Amino acid sequence: MLSQYLLFHFGRPAEVLPFPDGPTSGLDYPARYTRECVADHPGPWGRALDLGCAVGGTSFELARHFDEVVGIDLSRRFITAARALRRRGVLPYRRVEAGVLTSDAVARVPAGIERSRVRFAVGDATALPRGLGTFDLVLLANLLDRLADPARCLRQLRHLVRPGGRVAISSPFTWLTEYTARSKWLGGVRRGGRAVHVHESLGRILGPHFRRVDRFDVPFTIRDHARKFQWAVADATVWVRRRS
Ligand SMILES: C[S@@+](CC[C@H](N)C(=O)[O-])C[C@H]1O[C@@H](n2cnc3c(N)ncnc32)[C@H](O)[C@@H]1O
Repeated sequence: MLSQYLLFHFGRPAEVLPFPDGPTSGLDYPARYTRECVADHPGPWGRALDLGCAVGGTSFELARHFDEVVGIDLSRRFITAARALRRRGVLPYRRVEAGVLTSDAVARVPAGIERSRVRFAVGDATALPRGLGTFDLVLLANLLDRLADPARCLRQLRHLVRPGGRVAISSPFTWLTEYTARSKWLGGVRRGGRAVHVHESLGRILGPHFRRVDRFDVPFTIRDHARKFQWAVADATVWVRRRS
């Protein structure tokens, strides 16, 4: 998982997918998704929070735009790798070629990013520590369908986003009982004989405090090994915190 995410977040397009007829629309994910999230952001570009940041590729990209970025993830291994990248800008790792065979690779924070603007912490996105303060942008990328209680995570957001600030939520919403009991799924399920769709649940939970302002697709490509790749299309929505 660690090497898969280092390659996903920091690999050059040709390293992630050396086949030109493969799913190239999913390449360059952290930079591309960050650009889309801030494209019409009116500012101020103060603080951003990347919840479920993994090894931090998107957190570093956010630092091109925001003065301060906090990346939080439950995985200590991911956060240790993200912190090493913050300190040194590079991190050697081994990527899987086939079976147990690996090759040497190096993750590099892209040039032009002020790494000192980013800090990383181990934390649970459904029980965040007090004292994080408020943010101009909170990102939840491919996180909700990995949580035991995604609604609980969403309910905290109004305390984390300043009035006029934004939340960007993106995921292919792959609901699995291995992560989330079916009773907690926000979509992809029938309740009382009725199909429940994730947008309805997001609107019900966020609607009283946020206004949805955008929706777009975020394709991404993850390399499993030299000859196997996952291509997914996350469904992204952007929400602005109401002022009253
Ligand atoms: C599918 S990955 C997405 C990573 C990254 N946001 C991206 O889009 O590439 C889900 C991430 O959420 C993290 N995660 C899972 N449960 C979490 C929780 N309760 N609190 C914080 N992070 C969590 C995992 O460790 C993993 O890094």
